[in-house]
Amino acid sequence: MLKHWHKSANTGLDIDIQEDWTRFTVGVTTNFAFGYDINVLEQEGDDSFQRHLETFLPVFNRRANAPFPYWHFFKLPSERKMEQSLAIIKETISTFVQQARKKLEQQAAREAEPANFLEALLLAKDEQGNGLTDVEIQGNIITILLAGEDTTAHTFKIGGILIFHRTQ
Ligand code: HEM
Repeated sequence: MLKHWHKSANTGLDIDIQEDWTRFTVGVTTNFAFGYDINVLEQEGDDSFQRHLETFLPVFNRRANAPFPYWHFFKLPSERKMEQSLAIIKETISTFVQQARKKLEQQAAREAEPANFLEALLLAKDEQGNGLTDVEIQGNIITILLAGEDTTAHTFKIGGILIFHRTQ
């Protein structure tokens, strides 16, 4: 990101600071959650994982604050788009879950030290030795992705604006 900013500064190009911070925090959060920077794995564009998270959050917020669950009766175009994005988010998570399961099966010694949040969830057991279900794992990963990404990106942006004004 720093390289991209230096390049833009040297060539006088505008940058979209919110978009850059969001991309950065999606990278950090997916690294923590799955052990991969998802931005390194995919191209920018309308079908990027970041775009699907961005489609999800505003509708999620609207639903969380809605006086009644209207989406059980009718769906706005943004709701339909969000549900498509959610399906892709879930599919991506399930691919990572399958990959992590395979990796853990092959490397039993890793059990003592999970390398990321997903591995920790896959290895977690209660007193009876029961692990988490796939739905519980999926829910926890979505929580971390949503809780970790937008909050941090906006805080960075506000911090940047404050520093900029202080140094003027
Ligand atoms: C500047 C950045 C952040 C801010 C301002 C922030 C803010 C908050 C707030 C206010 C809550 C409480 C929500 C409530 O109970 O009403 C919360 C909960 C939480 N945050 Fe953050 N957060 C930030 C970064 C992160 C990051 C980086 C992660 C993880 C990668 C994270 C994970 C969580 C989780 C798991 C919860 C609990 C959700 C639950 O109760 O199920 N947050 N955060």
